[in-house]
Amino acid sequence: MRSKIVAGNWKMNKNLDEGLALTSEIVNMFKDEVNSDALAIIAAPFPLLSGVNGLIKDTDNVFLAAQTCSEYASGAYTGEVSTSMLSSVGVAYVILGHSERRGYFHESDEILAKKTDTVLQAGMKPIFCCGESLETRESGDHFKFVCDQLTAGLFHLDADAFSKVVIAYEPIWAIGTGKTASAEQAQEMHEKLRAHVAEKYGKDIADDTSILYGGSCKPGNAAEIFAGKDVDGGLIGGASLKSRDFVDIIKAF
Ligand code: PGA
Repeated sequence: MRSKIVAGNWKMNKNLDEGLALTSEIVNMFKDEVNSDALAIIAAPFPLLSGVNGLIKDTDNVFLAAQTCSEYASGAYTGEVSTSMLSSVGVAYVILGHSERRGYFHESDEILAKKTDTVLQAGMKPIFCCGESLETRESGDHFKFVCDQLTAGLFHLDADAFSKVVIAYEPIWAIGTGKTASAEQAQEMHEKLRAHVAEKYGKDIADDTSILYGGSCKPGNAAEIFAGKDVDGGLIGGASLKSRDFVDIIKAF
């Protein structure tokens, strides 16, 4: 059975004190208020990972993620952070291919395929992002564009490796814009993505793959979006920076 997941992507926000305070609030509210089997994931900036891990490591349902990683194992790559460093501080998931990484930092499909391999080799799970621009959606090519992103970044994996991947569909035009995809638009794309995975890996693996929606998801619209039969949760940016909003989104299941 696939997991229900709400992942908070803090992006480049919060210093150490702020991040630890936010984590404590989330852990406490989660414990007191959440009675579904949903998992929460906190994707904190690199310098905060170890501290955040200290607060979540004894919980059953809250996990730690990094927002990217190096494609290299170790060595003279100034400024980079390797997957073995991440796993050594308790990171269980790594977000890969966020549209901000693809756009601002020129991460190509080829680099993302390599990063996917390094994350899996280190025993962590990729949260692999895909999503189209407004221009692509208006051209009518969005289904093919997003399926092609999965093919390029993930479909070199064998079935066992692929079964560890979480997919996040994030239409670029909905990220941080306050403009959410409608529940129908999200469900429609998720269904296409699941069918695309089934074509390559078979129905059982496709049915077990969690596909999250991201893009201006908030407490007010989460329940409607998560009601889609192929929508298994969310990747949350802005609304993950407030414990109340983040936990209310988790409670939307
Ligand atoms: P948003 O960001 O929720 O602020 O739109 C989502 C994301 O970029 O993961």
